Amino acid sequence: MAEEQTQDQNGGGVATSQDSLSVTDNRTGETYEVEITDGTVKAMDFRGIKVDEDDFGLMTYDPAYTNTAHCRSDITYIDGAAGILQHRGYPIEQLCEQSTYLEVAYLLIHGELPTRQQLDDWVHEITVHTYIHENIKSFLDGFRYDAHPMGMLLSCVGALSTFYPDAKKIDDDFERHIAAVRLIAKMPTLAAFAYRHNLGLPFVYPDNDLSYPANFLSMLFKMTELKYEPDPRLTKALDVLFILHADHEQNCSTAAVRNVGSSQVDPYSAVAAGVAALYGPLHGGANEAVLRMLDRIEKKENIPDFLKGVKDGNERLMGFGHRVYKNYDPRARIIKKNVDEVLEVTGKNPKLEIAVELEKHALDDEYFTDRKLYPNVDFYSGMVYEALQIPTNMFTVIFAIPRTSGWIAQWMEMLDDPDTKIARPRQVYKGERDREYVPIEQRG
Ligand code: CMC
Repeated sequence: MAEEQTQDQNGGGVATSQDSLSVTDNRTGETYEVEITDGTVKAMDFRGIKVDEDDFGLMTYDPAYTNTAHCRSDITYIDGAAGILQHRGYPIEQLCEQSTYLEVAYLLIHGELPTRQQLDDWVHEITVHTYIHENIKSFLDGFRYDAHPMGMLLSCVGALSTFYPDAKKIDDDFERHIAAVRLIAKMPTLAAFAYRHNLGLPFVYPDNDLSYPANFLSMLFKMTELKYEPDPRLTKALDVLFILHADHEQNCSTAAVRNVGSSQVDPYSAVAAGVAALYGPLHGGANEAVLRMLDRIEKKENIPDFLKGVKDGNERLMGFGHRVYKNYDPRARIIKKNVDEVLEVTGKNPKLEIAVELEKHALDDEYFTDRKLYPNVDFYSGMVYEALQIPTNMFTVIFAIPRTSGWIAQWMEMLDDPDTKIARPRQVYKGERDREYVPIEQRG
């Protein structure tokens, strides 16, 4: 099947249990019937295909999981060909327009939109869990002044498991719930403290009168004023970015959370694995890489030379391309609108002009159109962060804050799935066998 086929075509539930696949093994001439369910075949059904009794059986080979569904999920639907993204069935455009990040977090975790009372209780719970244990400040003090904030966040999230040892009772509903609340509540505090550590500034404690995004901006930027009150348009823009980053089905970091969580470790350790995966430049680190790329391009006149370098394979056009979207990433479309609104408040950013021109050139170039490479969520998000005066090395940290709700929702779904077992892939061994050990003096 072509990679760009939609989820409906390749797993959205069109197949019935009567569907099957006939496979003839040309090594033996045997034919096998393999059941097709939800547009998938079970890799284990191939194990019975053998050349003889001693044969281990056939395995599937898919190093980057490019065509392997590793779970069933009800959380996020993506149709990569049509550029559709929905959470629990609600289109991302409507959520960005009408909801808030905390409501979307509730939706992802609980499966339904909350009633007014449920939302109020949820927001209250998150708000009263924003403080972190004072000892965490001592860890942060141990980092060098220029430590990357993503490295600091990663360590602190992992460390949370030592403060809440009961979180290892992963079958206890209360423990699961309170871990979800704590993670969502404390992530902005940890992120802001890492930022303040880089600047050598005193930490700003959470302000429970402020909304979730406004409190984060306060913890980042408050100085001597008695109360930090950000422009509501900027707060809204940040909240929309949080919604856009909340979940994105089985990407690298979510798969990491599920894989690590399948060992039945506590949720803080599983989420720390997600933070680590997100750090990479091909994943959450791309937003930081986009800004560095725009800095290097410097001015519009340099775009053709830059794109030549990309086409010659010397570098990547960061913020372009996606494993699933073979069309404009719907999140990029919303962010682009968001950038314009933010820049109305903060003033022009010359990098935006370079980015818009770069996008135009790329979308006019067969190299990119033939490969279905379009802007992804990270192409414009950095522009909003920069307008909010957030430094480049904080961009991925800000991605991690809202993605925490998606990681938790996926972690909970994984635990409740009767098909879940500890993740343990196979390998095709191609190395040497049965060698005699050679003492060091006899080696050539
Ligand atoms: N610039 C130039 N060429 C590209 C790019 C790019 N950004 N992305 C893909 N290609 C080419 C690639 O070289 C390959 O060409 P060929 O067929 O000639 O070998 C073809 O397009 C297919 O690419 P691929 O690497 O097989 O695609 P993939 O699905 O493995 O990778 C990706 C997806 C997102 C890692 C990749 O597109 C990429 O590296 N993009 C830049 C990094 C980026 O923006 N990442 C953020 C992703 S969205 C947010 C998130 O998930 O965190």
